[in-house]
Amino acid sequence: MNVLMVCLGNICRSPLAEGIMREKLNKHNVKAFVDSAGMIDFHEGGLPDHRSIVTARNHGIDISMQRSRPFKKADIDKFDYIFAMDSNNYESLIEFADTPDQESKIHLLMEFAGFGIRRSVPDPYYGNLSDFEKVFEMLDKACEQAAQKIVKQQSELKIA
Ligand code: 4NP
Repeated sequence: MNVLMVCLGNICRSPLAEGIMREKLNKHNVKAFVDSAGMIDFHEGGLPDHRSIVTARNHGIDISMQRSRPFKKADIDKFDYIFAMDSNNYESLIEFADTPDQESKIHLLMEFAGFGIRRSVPDPYYGNLSDFEKVFEMLDKACEQAAQKIVKQQSELKIA
């Protein structure tokens, strides 16, 4: 099982989402490779934003080993679930899909997790530490629900 978390820069939201989702899937005994990527390559090779590193660390999660990388077309075939942080990322990702099967792997995270149609994780880049904390709490709830849904979908696939 391969799971990819995607935002714009891959330094604020998706690194947090990667760290949180890895922990949630592990908790639910799902063997998964979890990664993250950005829709732009501006921060390629860079560490997560220090505010994301601090926020994750405050919750006991180390994301400091992560490095930013841009999303690439081959990711669509490699990953089983691709979660966009906001609807702009979602629209950009969908443009990479050539087939209905590829399209079906791409989800808006908050929507997949049941928090509302077209619901996005706000970009905290121009915000302060409390905005990063709000994003963490949002992602924590969303990744928990998404992990539970993945468990359910996988068990349904096994039965079918
Ligand atoms: P992220 O936040 O998409 O959550 O990583 C951003 C980081 C950098 C930029 C935009 C958003 N930027 O324009 O450089």
